[in-house]
Amino acid sequence: MRISGNHCDVLVVGGGIIGLVTAWRTAQRGLRTALADPDPGGGAAQVAAGMLAAVTELHYGEQTLLGLNLASAKRYPAFVAELEEASGQGVGFRACGTLSVALDADDRAQLRELHALQQRSGLESEWLSGRECRRLEPMLAPGVRGGLRADGDHQVDPRRLASALVTACERAGVVFHRAWVRRLSVTGGRATGGVLADGTEVGAGQVVLAAGSLSGRLEGVPGTVPVPVRPVKGQVLRLTVPSAYAPFLSRTVRAVVRGSHVYLVPRADGELVVGATSEELGWDTTVTAGGVYELLRDAHELVPGITELPLTETRAGLRPASPDNAPLLGPTALPGLHLATGHHRNGVLLTPLTGDVMAQVLSTGELPEVARPFAPHRFDRSPAAPSRVDVRTPASQEQPA
Ligand code: GLY
Repeated sequence: MRISGNHCDVLVVGGGIIGLVTAWRTAQRGLRTALADPDPGGGAAQVAAGMLAAVTELHYGEQTLLGLNLASAKRYPAFVAELEEASGQGVGFRACGTLSVALDADDRAQLRELHALQQRSGLESEWLSGRECRRLEPMLAPGVRGGLRADGDHQVDPRRLASALVTACERAGVVFHRAWVRRLSVTGGRATGGVLADGTEVGAGQVVLAAGSLSGRLEGVPGTVPVPVRPVKGQVLRLTVPSAYAPFLSRTVRAVVRGSHVYLVPRADGELVVGATSEELGWDTTVTAGGVYELLRDAHELVPGITELPLTETRAGLRPASPDNAPLLGPTALPGLHLATGHHRNGVLLTPLTGDVMAQVLSTGELPEVARPFAPHRFDRSPAAPSRVDVRTPASQEQPA
């Protein structure tokens, strides 16, 4: 093992958008922060469509998660303004709203149920007839039977978001280790850093495991700290709307077609993102003919003109899913080790809130109220972990770099 003398207050393991926002917000609070990832800004954000869909992706039994999603959606405009200022880069935030449509009587009944659930949950959405849907979005198929208009569900470009977060981290003084953490270091019953792929040891007062779908695979995490995160594959297509066809769609359009979700997310720059499959196939990221076919077939039923557009990219990514579809945020039963993972379908939406929550618990030891239902100890074999933890004397005071 090579001891490099690297030492920081907080080591973030994983440089996807969740790891990056955690590092950025933590460094802003004055903690010496390092982040380890061979390709910061890569990961699921390179595939995700970037819908901020708290209302349209509401599911039965997920009302607690809804509160977290809404809290993060509310933070988005100010978060974007601050990040764009800090990085000097745009992130493609578009306050365009979303239209969920139904193509047949079954879809319409399901959408009516979703509307009732949204209303019971105090959310704003409006039922539209098929004709009203087509008036809003003239490219919709003539067969659309009705829809739900949710003007509060916006979008951001996750690739630009990731790039801006990398720059913001660099400018805030985050130290990047462009390597995987091979193993968590544990000393005296406490997480004390990580060993990189080349054997370099990075010491840290606190460690945040934010490695997306790989979070459960870090060596050295004791068996008493379950990290129940699994990969859920999503295949996504990117098309380009030629300027002669613009505006092709003015807002995100989505539907459930034969039980599968399909969504079309139009960017201001002419990119049209079509997603997504949902497949439990482990770490497989193969783009399949069947996946592309089904997405195009369903998207074509919604918006027939899509087959005229150039298809510019096909890609698959892995959502980090937890057993209850909600993230794991905050301290674990191993002192010094925190989780920020398991965001499943809501990673982009939950980015602003995750950064704030993690920076607060790392700097004060207090997990904010809004995040307490999402503390990792809900999956512990013997639930005992408190929402308040002792923050170790900052390493910067103990061991100068
Ligand atoms: N939130 C969209 C997806 O996970 O496909």
